[in-house]
Amino acid sequence: MKEFKGKVAVVTGGANGIGHALAQEAAKREMKVVIADIDKEGLDRVESEFKGLNADFMTVYMDVTEYSDMEMLAKKTIDKYGQVDILFNNAGVVVPGSIWELPLNDIDYIMQSNLYSILYGLKVFVPIMEKQDTDCHIVNTASVAGLLSTAGMPTYHMTKFGNIGLSESINYQLQEKGSKIKMSVFCPGFIQTDLHHCDDRRPEKFKIDWEDPYYQSEEYKNGLKRAHHVITTGIPIDSVGMSVFQAIEDEQFYILTHPQYLPIIGMRVKNVLDMKNPDVNFFK
Ligand SMILES: NC(=O)c1ccc[n+]([C@@H]2O[C@H](COP(=O)([O-])OP(=O)(O)OC[C@H]3O[C@@H](n4cnc5c(N)ncnc54)[C@H](O)[C@@H]3O)[C@@H](O)[C@H]2O)c1
Repeated sequence: MKEFKGKVAVVTGGANGIGHALAQEAAKREMKVVIADIDKEGLDRVESEFKGLNADFMTVYMDVTEYSDMEMLAKKTIDKYGQVDILFNNAGVVVPGSIWELPLNDIDYIMQSNLYSILYGLKVFVPIMEKQDTDCHIVNTASVAGLLSTAGMPTYHMTKFGNIGLSESINYQLQEKGSKIKMSVFCPGFIQTDLHHCDDRRPEKFKIDWEDPYYQSEEYKNGLKRAHHVITTGIPIDSVGMSVFQAIEDEQFYILTHPQYLPIIGMRVKNVLDMKNPDVNFFK
């Protein structure tokens, strides 16, 4: 897709961080923007900001872990704008902690927020785009954590590796059909966003059980500290919107942000090909 003016972009997780940057870039390119999020205050902030920008936009309060909310988002988009041209399947969360310590509810929270949400977005929006039969694009936000793995956040890796496998498979299927829908999978490294505060915006059904021993543990406290550190020392967000839109123009599938991870991804792939065992010292 090369022309954006007047077309319609839907962004999940658009009230903060990467989604917000994508929504801003879409508005800058004179797209009509649908900004979906579970953060009511964030959506209010975006309302005043986008009014100030004179943008054509709509905010939708929804929860990406609910399939019916994704259907409602699509319906509101079509009711207001009659079409959808770009879907940014972007909302996501991070929960550190080992799977034997982390309450099952938190594992469900991360699976549904990071993986089922992507699947729901595809399941609802692909048929709409197919029916339109116009040039469309879908960007699934995964992470570099879907291309290499580390200790400490296995559930996050599980969802991000899953996201990339899902995106690749759907992309093959669309190619086989000769579809006009193009796809990208966005795999950023650390970026300065509000991701380390995601617990403040959990859906009610996934509220933290503070009585659970995990939430009194050093593992939890250290995980939080580390998440805070890596996000606040990540790259600035300023160029993210522009580079993702450039990738859409170039029909680039894999979008990466941090060149320093490329040799590590290469080493991981080489290990697989050489059938060499993963070593915990690999990243040190
Ligand atoms: N920031 C990074 O360093 C980084 C690195 C790699 C990947 N990512 C990925 O980027 C995506 C966006 O994260 P971010 O860093 O911009 O974080 P963020 O917390 O700043 O933004 C995420 C947005 O998603 C929304 N959201 C969360 N759960 C939701 C739900 N159930 N329904 C609707 N909206 C929901 C939040 O309210 C928030 O506005 C995530 O998928 C994340 O995993 C981020």
